[in-house]
Amino acid sequence: MPQININGAVHDVDADPQMPLLWVIRDLVGLTGTKFGCGVGACGACTVHLDGDAVRSCVTPLSAATGHKIVTIEGLSTDGTHPVQRAWQANNVPQCGYCQPGQIMQAAALLKQTAKPTDQEITDAMSGNICRCGTYVRIRAAIKSVAEAM
Ligand code: FES
Ligand code: FES
Repeated sequence: MPQININGAVHDVDADPQMPLLWVIRDLVGLTGTKFGCGVGACGACTVHLDGDAVRSCVTPLSAATGHKIVTIEGLSTDGTHPVQRAWQANNVPQCGYCQPGQIMQAAALLKQTAKPTDQEITDAMSGNICRCGTYVRIRAAIKSVAEAM
């Protein structure tokens, strides 16, 4: 039976190796912070970290995740105090909130890899994460506030 490491915990998952990681995370492991949006890798709602890189879990098969470390929004911090989460709160980023776990995971991966991203680097990293509520200005402000504090 495949095993998967999510947020530091190893889970045995009785699933087809081609099952999307998003299904595993939500339906088999029960972590529902990661959202389903488009299902085709085009919106970013399902973004998680795979060995520190932001990936779209809806188009990542279970077989590509086994043997790697997955982090979801629930594992970014134990108490919601990751610098990106703090910045999201300080900037009142969310509106409906649906896209925000993916936005936060995408931003956290960017800032881990590039502590002080340029405007263009922020655009390049975040352009695939869609927000139907249009919170893009506040997302950018929050990312910049984290970069400035680093
Ligand atoms: S649900 Fe995965 S990118 Fe939209
Ligand atoms: S906050 Fe509503 S979709 Fe982004």
